[in-house]
Amino acid sequence: MSRMLHNLPVEAYTCKQWFDREQVNIFSKTWRFAGFMEDVSEPGQYITVQAGLNNIFIIMGRDRRLRAFHNICRHRGTQLIRAVGKTRKALTCPYHDWTYDLEGNLISVPDEDREFGQIDKTCLGLKPASVDIWKSMLFVHPDPDAGSIMDWFGHVDTRVGPHTPQELPEYEEARNTYEVRANWKIVVENYIDVYHLAHLHSGTLHMYDHARAEYGFVGPHYLFWEPPVPEYAEDQDRKLPAPRVIPKDENGTWVPMLFPGIGIGATEDGWNVFIIEPLAPDRTRITNRSRVANVSAWEFSRQSMRSAGFWSSFGIGGKYKADDAQPHNDPQSLGDPMTSGDFTAEDIYACEQQQKSLYSPYYEVGPAAKGECPVLDHQNIVLEWLERSK
Ligand code: FES
Ligand SMILES: [Fe+2]
Repeated sequence: MSRMLHNLPVEAYTCKQWFDREQVNIFSKTWRFAGFMEDVSEPGQYITVQAGLNNIFIIMGRDRRLRAFHNICRHRGTQLIRAVGKTRKALTCPYHDWTYDLEGNLISVPDEDREFGQIDKTCLGLKPASVDIWKSMLFVHPDPDAGSIMDWFGHVDTRVGPHTPQELPEYEEARNTYEVRANWKIVVENYIDVYHLAHLHSGTLHMYDHARAEYGFVGPHYLFWEPPVPEYAEDQDRKLPAPRVIPKDENGTWVPMLFPGIGIGATEDGWNVFIIEPLAPDRTRITNRSRVANVSAWEFSRQSMRSAGFWSSFGIGGKYKADDAQPHNDPQSLGDPMTSGDFTAEDIYACEQQQKSLYSPYYEVGPAAKGECPVLDHQNIVLEWLERSK
């Protein structure tokens, strides 16, 4: 009998075989977040993204339509273009200079007559994938017949917050990417674990009332909402760290985790995405991007000054006191996550500490709390997706 994390064996979090199965059966068969709509906003502009086994790029054509293609040259398969960029009229493969137009048609093959005789270029266009936009976010799907993104998010579309992110500009300074030394499911499970909110984050997220949280799954997608505590709710406009982005009478934070690994944190003052990308059984990349109120920098500093008094009296701080901080030798480190007063640092720390224990032969889980039901449900959803494709 193998050791379990409730519904999944420990190997699901540690071994390459599981990781590979998930890449094939989950991440190659679902919609993948690629960026914000502004990332590809003029003809020739493109971004590439890895969707499971597939490297896919989105490019805007001369007709200003977005198209997605598999980033594979039709000659000998070389990846055609690099991560992000702009191209004037055409896409040229670095290997033998086969060239495609912005709509994916093969338009030139060097020394065609001499080297090949004649080639029927019409059957050698780039292989299409699907692209769609949902709430300001670009998504790709490896399958050109994947349908529309509303087929996938339709049931949760109106339940992830009253926000209109397409009307909010990106807050560039909030954009960051980092790696967590844990399996991607550990990171998802941490995001949807309601039980930990009052404990790991006792000093960082107590402005929301975890006892009144409402949450559950709709299909494979997890929805979560919780209201502010009375002290934060009262006269809230004065207390928000940044200008408000949702109607005055709508308070609270919506924190869904859409399948697979597409986290959103939608608060009274912003729309944040938290994208979880598996890199290896024990390594996961997180990308954070934010959209905020469409008002001047002056309005932002006014709001931040206006709310500063509330936050200093309300108190945000580390779970451990400063004199409990662990010494560290890492010059990159900003200090002990558990004294940082930063809830993201606390989460990363908990995920990495949990992953470390999985390799011990003494590892065994105890009972799951009510607030951990989403964790167990997510494990079952992963199992279903893997079984379904057998
Ligand atoms: S592999 Fe792209 S031109 Fe040869
Ligand atoms: Fe957390």
